[in-house]
Amino acid sequence: MVKNTNAMDTTTTTNQSLVFAVNGQRFDLCNVDPSTTLLEFLRYQTPFKSVKLSCGEGGCGACVVLLSKYDSASDKVEDFTVSSCLTLLGSINGCSITTAEGIGNSKDGFHPIQERFSGFHASQCGFCTPGMCVSLYSALVNAEKTDNRPEPCQGFSKLTVSEAEKSIAGNLCRCTGYRPIVDACKSFATDVDMEDLGFNSFWRKGESNEVKLSRLPPYDRKNAIRVFPDFLKNETTVGANVDSQRCRWFSPVSLEELQSLLQMEVNKVVSTKIIVGNTGTGYYKELVHYDSYIDLRYIPEFSIIRKDSTGIEIGAAVMISKAIETLKEEKESEFNKEAKLVFKKSVTTWRRLLQSSSGIQIMKGQSRLKLTLEEFLGRPPLDSETVLLSIKIPCWESNRSVSYDAHDKLLFQTYRAAPRPLGNALPYLNAAFLAQVSLRKSPTGFMLKNCRFVFGAYGTKHAIRVKEFEEFLCGKLLSISVLYEAIRLLETLVIPEDGTSSPAYRSSLAVGFLFEFLSPLIDYPVEISNGLVNQYNGASLFKDSNQELGEPTIKTGAILQASGEAIYVDDIPSPKDCLYGAFIYSTEPLARVKGIKLNPGTSPDGVITLITSKDIPGLNVGSMSFFGTEPLYADELTEGIGQRIAFVVADTQKNADIAATLAVVEYDKENLEPPILSVEEAVERCSFYKVPPPLYPNQIKLGSQYYFYMETQTALAIPDEDDCMVVYSSIQFPEYAHNTIAGCLGVPDHNVRVKTRRLGGGFGGKAVKSMAVASACAVAAYRLHRPVRVYVNRKFDMIMSGGRHPMKITYSVGFKSNGKITALKLDILLDSGMFVDLCKTNLPSRAAVRAPGDAQASYICEAVIEHVASYLSMEVDSVRNINLHTQNSLGFFFPSSVGEPLEYTLPSIWDRLASTSSFYKRTEMVKEFNRCHNWKKRGISRVPIVYEVMMRSTPGKVSILRDGSIVVEVGGIEMGQGLWTKVKQMTAYGLGLVKCSGTQDLLEKVRVIEADTLSVIQGGLTAGSTTSEASCEAVRLCCNILVERLTPLKEKLMEQVGSVEWETLILEAYRNSVNLSANTLYTPNLSSMRYINYGVAVSEVEINLITGETTILRTDIIYDCGQSLNPAVDLGQIEGAYVQGIGFFMLEEYLTNSDGLVITDNTWTYKIPTVDTIPKQFNVEILNSGHHKDRVLSSKGMSFNYMLTISQQLILPLPSGEPPLTLAVSVHCATRAAVREARRQVRSWGGENKPDSTLVQLEVPATMPVVKELCGLDCVQKYLQWTVGKN
Ligand SMILES: Cc1cc2nc3c(=O)[nH]c(=O)nc-3n(C[C@H](O)[C@H](O)[C@H](O)COP(=O)(O)OP(=O)(O)OC[C@H]3O[C@@H](n4cnc5c(N)ncnc54)[C@H](O)[C@@H]3O)c2cc1C
Ligand code: FES
Ligand code: FES
Repeated sequence: MVKNTNAMDTTTTTNQSLVFAVNGQRFDLCNVDPSTTLLEFLRYQTPFKSVKLSCGEGGCGACVVLLSKYDSASDKVEDFTVSSCLTLLGSINGCSITTAEGIGNSKDGFHPIQERFSGFHASQCGFCTPGMCVSLYSALVNAEKTDNRPEPCQGFSKLTVSEAEKSIAGNLCRCTGYRPIVDACKSFATDVDMEDLGFNSFWRKGESNEVKLSRLPPYDRKNAIRVFPDFLKNETTVGANVDSQRCRWFSPVSLEELQSLLQMEVNKVVSTKIIVGNTGTGYYKELVHYDSYIDLRYIPEFSIIRKDSTGIEIGAAVMISKAIETLKEEKESEFNKEAKLVFKKSVTTWRRLLQSSSGIQIMKGQSRLKLTLEEFLGRPPLDSETVLLSIKIPCWESNRSVSYDAHDKLLFQTYRAAPRPLGNALPYLNAAFLAQVSLRKSPTGFMLKNCRFVFGAYGTKHAIRVKEFEEFLCGKLLSISVLYEAIRLLETLVIPEDGTSSPAYRSSLAVGFLFEFLSPLIDYPVEISNGLVNQYNGASLFKDSNQELGEPTIKTGAILQASGEAIYVDDIPSPKDCLYGAFIYSTEPLARVKGIKLNPGTSPDGVITLITSKDIPGLNVGSMSFFGTEPLYADELTEGIGQRIAFVVADTQKNADIAATLAVVEYDKENLEPPILSVEEAVERCSFYKVPPPLYPNQIKLGSQYYFYMETQTALAIPDEDDCMVVYSSIQFPEYAHNTIAGCLGVPDHNVRVKTRRLGGGFGGKAVKSMAVASACAVAAYRLHRPVRVYVNRKFDMIMSGGRHPMKITYSVGFKSNGKITALKLDILLDSGMFVDLCKTNLPSRAAVRAPGDAQASYICEAVIEHVASYLSMEVDSVRNINLHTQNSLGFFFPSSVGEPLEYTLPSIWDRLASTSSFYKRTEMVKEFNRCHNWKKRGISRVPIVYEVMMRSTPGKVSILRDGSIVVEVGGIEMGQGLWTKVKQMTAYGLGLVKCSGTQDLLEKVRVIEADTLSVIQGGLTAGSTTSEASCEAVRLCCNILVERLTPLKEKLMEQVGSVEWETLILEAYRNSVNLSANTLYTPNLSSMRYINYGVAVSEVEINLITGETTILRTDIIYDCGQSLNPAVDLGQIEGAYVQGIGFFMLEEYLTNSDGLVITDNTWTYKIPTVDTIPKQFNVEILNSGHHKDRVLSSKGMSFNYMLTISQQLILPLPSGEPPLTLAVSVHCATRAAVREARRQVRSWGGENKPDSTLVQLEVPATMPVVKELCGLDCVQKYLQWTVGKN
């Protein structure tokens, strides 16, 4: 393309400089590329690394910053959050940016937001935390600006509880389960009930509100908000005109200027993009580079909001939040006057959008055109010369074509069915209905005089108004039969286009919403959801302990995570000459790779080279696991879709990513067998075995689940002297990464050093999969003799990482008439993907995801139980009850981990939870609810878990420095599970046994440092819930050694001076050459290596028969933690695991195309739980059983509960990282119970009243379409038919 940059100089001048502030610091940038994202700028060119890259598409909130704009005319500052991954530098001229470091930091002091996040234990891996803090900060800033609210009490803000909860609705967190985050947010709210705030380190349960408030880090409204920098106020009031080498940025201030700029596009001299917020690129990803950008926001016509008697005109660049605010004001001032008919949802003047005479103003060249909304939508997309100027929402009154009398009422309602009620999610269907109804009731009903019905987002190019349908209804007296006829007509009109997912479901939603809207006018009141009210009641039964080990100590580093100062691999500054890599993966399941073209025409500049298997100096091994190895790159044959083929190395991560995306791989499939894409095919082609005819057979299937750690895979490799390589890796298994890298490079192990400080979440996905990422960087760095790093983007990560093993299960179950299961035969086909073990398919290789196997097993067990109950027409809970293990049966199935009878706490937990959750009473209430409600059904379910874990060997090293401070290294990796916190607690406890003065303050003297594979060898794998426990034990053993070495000296000093301080003791030890460093490899003995964890959950859900939506009303959990070492950490682990389980069982659809390529590969399509999809009430109780006498350390599986016995021996705590995930099956079971009720109801409308023993097969995940389909896509029609028949 020929560039003629002079073309623009006739219309505008470029100032070539961008001026803005970040955290009060002035930036004046010349020659900067204005199309750089704010995130790239902050992360790579400033020290402000708190903005985290997680999705790069506006879908997670990890990169959120506060953007403040000053308006000199009004002398006001506008503050709002933006996703820095989408905001371009050109658009922030004159703005002030505040990041998490700017809110508060370790040098200038932390902000109470950060301190409360820390004290409420609202940060685990910490990767989401800075974004969360900024979101809350923005809400506080804006609440302070409201002047129509009463002054809050001291210590609180003007924020309301509801606003506090909503402030983080767009932020994702994969670790915490949100409850503690919501509590931290709510603690600032003026209307908060302190009793509602859950477990925290500020106060103990039962303390008065005054005491609680006095313990909270104080919030001073005057000083807590950063002021807009004066230097910006005086300097910049206009947008940027920047001419950089890469592109030009224009901020025209008049329509004339815009027209001449657009003229360039007509002449095709440059490629130009019109821009406002640039959030569109979050969805419509752009790989092309533009020569120029035109920012519309400085042209007054684009920012107008004009109200008059004919309507409201909104400029094309008005922010959606401003438009909503305006319409809300309108609602208050005008519409309510006439909205006398009581509807439970609020009415807004968006009704005006439904008018056919809505005015759209567009501009093409010099001419302006006014179109109706329908004319506008009916046109082809705007060409590059045409811009949208404004949209006018006309008044109903001014356009009404039908007469309006005093008995007429206007009804307006909007509907949205989406996987998340509040959070960011593409809806299955949107609808807006407006009706003018005559309330002068005739004997046959109300008359619909005028109406508008609009449906959108259901699989058409744009929203449609169904005129034919409106014509049918207008003038009709509303009756059941008219409604039935209307619905039959609507079914033929709202039909998604081919290729849309769940088309029948979407059409059924249109019917359902219409029914909800009109049926109240036909004497059938319909309940409408009350929206989100989050009530949490996180509590623990932690009993007082007279030792510091049981304290809910704040998580190590939590405050640094909240301020964004905690360093993750990608925060390490790039060394000089650093290069960046990106993977090219196979898009064919089975093919020969003939060649790779980097697309010279379109590929960005800066590509350095392509690394393939041929460039590997040693072995082609990308990862090792206990099952075998996986190649780093496909050799000639790719054996699975998503397999790594090559690594593009470029000068920036962005260029590497674009080059990898645009690369063209040439495949050859000649003479190859067709690929194996399912476990069924795998079995067929391998002719495995035949399933014998079972007694009560059934078949169930389970899909995969993606880890969704917030920090994607990343590594940095730095070549060192003499063929050595230092690799910083975000990995759960540095030891094997070390061996893999050495193997790939063909060097001895001692040439390699792998370092890992912390992970932004792991969940199993960084055990094996990270090895290839680290090895790829190491190989490239070795070849190029330069540092190479990679931060794998979300899409690549989702495609290549594999996820949980999909399963197909065939079972046969035998049982007695009382429900006692006597035999169970399971045939499980496990799809392992292209490498290692079991069914080999040409799909991505799978790996362990939190609670691997057990998550699926819990589903299988409950499906079998449900099957038995349904066959026998018994209550499911009775069947569960009768099948709880006895001590004998437990010993039969778990001979090496059964433990003493007292350790088998499940039966007592089972009964206890029935009582604390009022299970039986609520079961009756649920029945009553179901009797009284047609369109909502509830289900309640109590589910137990028995979860065996195994300890592994783990090293530890404790060193005491001259000043008495202590440094600890362990094999375990900190990834949010609180491992460092527990290790610190254990170190303080262990060294405290030396019993000299000052040891009560040892906790503050302990620092746990990064894992380094050359400093502490045999580090092993951090997984399986037991690594914290094993690391603590390793540290305890080290402490024992040190105490033994120090004790004689201490006693000698005591004899001499009577008492001795810790610092004095250590100084003396240095003088006396006592070895103050001890290391060990803790190896569990056979009797304590395996043990079982127990827990029970009761969940109650409500399903909506119209939409299929499931709301989790309440969850109660009791989990046996032994004797919790840190109940705060354990509670966080239980809640976080449970919510991740909700994701697996209810929300996270892992979809592939016909070749097996993952298509749910971004935040738009893959929906992890958000704050609005967790239980409305969540009660977790940690049982401090302390029965595990045989074990040296006694905490169950996720955390550690230590208890001193009489012999001063420590008892093991129990782990909580993985087992509680499986308790989320209780939500699935409760949903199944509710669905069963719904089906019973719908069957009764069809005249079938006999009990139904058909097994309800509820898929995993039980998404809205799945639930709705089981309830009956045509349930509304059936109801209407039944009603018509009755009358
Ligand atoms: C997290 C997230 C949630 C979202 N949710 C929604 C949602 O609920 N509903 C929804 O509809 N969209 C949604 N979007 C998509 C998109 O961000 C919005 O549609 C938004 O309105 C785009 O506004 P913008 O100012 O950022 O436009 P930009 O991204 O700056 O522009 C979008 C496109 O329009 C062109 N353009 C801009 N202004 C004009 C003009 N005046 N005339 C002609 N062309 C113009 C641009 O060249 C570009 O091609 C979402 C996006 C994100 C990241
Ligand atoms: S929203 Fe920007 S990284 Fe996710
Ligand atoms: S703490 Fe929120 S993602 Fe880890």
